[in-house]
Amino acid sequence: MRLITEPAVSPLLGELTPPGDKSISHRALIFACLAHGPSRIRGLLESADVRATASACGQLGMTIQRDAGDWLLEGVGERGLQAPTAPLDMGNSGTAMRLLAGVLAAQPFSSELIGDASLSRRPMRRIVAPLEQMGARIETAAGGTPPLRISGTPGLRGIDYVSPIASAQVKSCLLLAGLYASGHTSVREPLKSRDHTEKMLPAFGVPLFGDCGVRGGSRLEGTALRVPADISSAAFLLAAAALVPGSDLLLRDVGLNGTRDGIVHVLQAMGADLTVLERRHFGEEPVGDIRIRYAGRLRGIDIPVDRVPALIDELPVILALAATAEGTTRLRGAAELRVKESDRLAVMGRGLQTLGVEFEEYADGMDVEGGPISGGAVDGAGDHRCAMSFCVLGQAAPESVEVAGCENIDTSYPGFVDDLVRVGGRVAAGGHA
Ligand code: S3P
Repeated sequence: MRLITEPAVSPLLGELTPPGDKSISHRALIFACLAHGPSRIRGLLESADVRATASACGQLGMTIQRDAGDWLLEGVGERGLQAPTAPLDMGNSGTAMRLLAGVLAAQPFSSELIGDASLSRRPMRRIVAPLEQMGARIETAAGGTPPLRISGTPGLRGIDYVSPIASAQVKSCLLLAGLYASGHTSVREPLKSRDHTEKMLPAFGVPLFGDCGVRGGSRLEGTALRVPADISSAAFLLAAAALVPGSDLLLRDVGLNGTRDGIVHVLQAMGADLTVLERRHFGEEPVGDIRIRYAGRLRGIDIPVDRVPALIDELPVILALAATAEGTTRLRGAAELRVKESDRLAVMGRGLQTLGVEFEEYADGMDVEGGPISGGAVDGAGDHRCAMSFCVLGQAAPESVEVAGCENIDTSYPGFVDDLVRVGGRVAAGGHA
């Protein structure tokens, strides 16, 4: 699916609430499924990725009802999951597959997790190896990729896992498996990844053990949660407003968890006029309203390596911003981008090249030299975040930009085109390439 952008002719103006946080939505569904009694979730993201998790939880026995905007979920209890009668299809979602693998590894039944072409290329050894240390039995395809064939193993052993990578998916997978394991399970990581699992477990009645550990045999109780708007989706609107002269946008109820808010600091460091208003909490999760006003051409920066986990999903749009910024933007320590829904460094590099941007690609990052860009035909390669990043950059191009490979935008931001157009952006469907 292609989208075509036109050069902005007027500022981006208005207010909106971006859709619900994807990471929090997956976790809310999975924890509600494992809980005893009902849960009520407000603001759940209704996207393809989250639907994959919801339908897997349905196959495992959770009942799902809608009550106006809320989702009413009746959990089956940690020990009450039913054996699925068909493979569980996780679509494009690495989070869904890796988190559910932790649960399924500990069940008294076997199961299979499958995904689309992109997910079927993504590395699963990062969860399979530590789960095996806990006693799990999981077969992958050659190369350590999906499908995952899980021979459920009640009686896993708790571990203290020192992860070589900062990954919330690995961490959350192991904490979920740890709920079923003997003793304690804890995870340490080189830099702190998003901590939604640690924040949400206590809301379901599971105390944390240390900073990032659980005790096997904990019981989950249903609860009520409100999901903040996704800062990773908000990032595209913030970036567009930072690029289009005269813009003034207010984004409401945006999640500002300190393990996710790197984009706020990067935009400010690049010279954007961004302020956070009305800081408050939805449960344990910090939220706020973000106002951004166009403040002239952005400046290139060195992205702090220790902030990379807090802006990992925003790096494609930051590279897009760097393309027109004054001077050089340097990104390092981001090799993980190569194993996301696409190789995001390669996909962004190819698109930037087409638009006439000078850059140097490294194994773990990129140097981007900002300057004037041209229009052209680029490819989001089926990666939602790269596709949206090119649509945003298109607002600042002097001619139209045709963005192919946009079909997966609705895995995370189903209303992206409508929202961008509503505030004055110029993007429209260009049909199937
Ligand atoms: C996510 C964790 C991150 C992130 C992904 C969502 C999560 O992946 O990129 O979009 O919800 O736990 P990693 O855990 O692989 O870093």
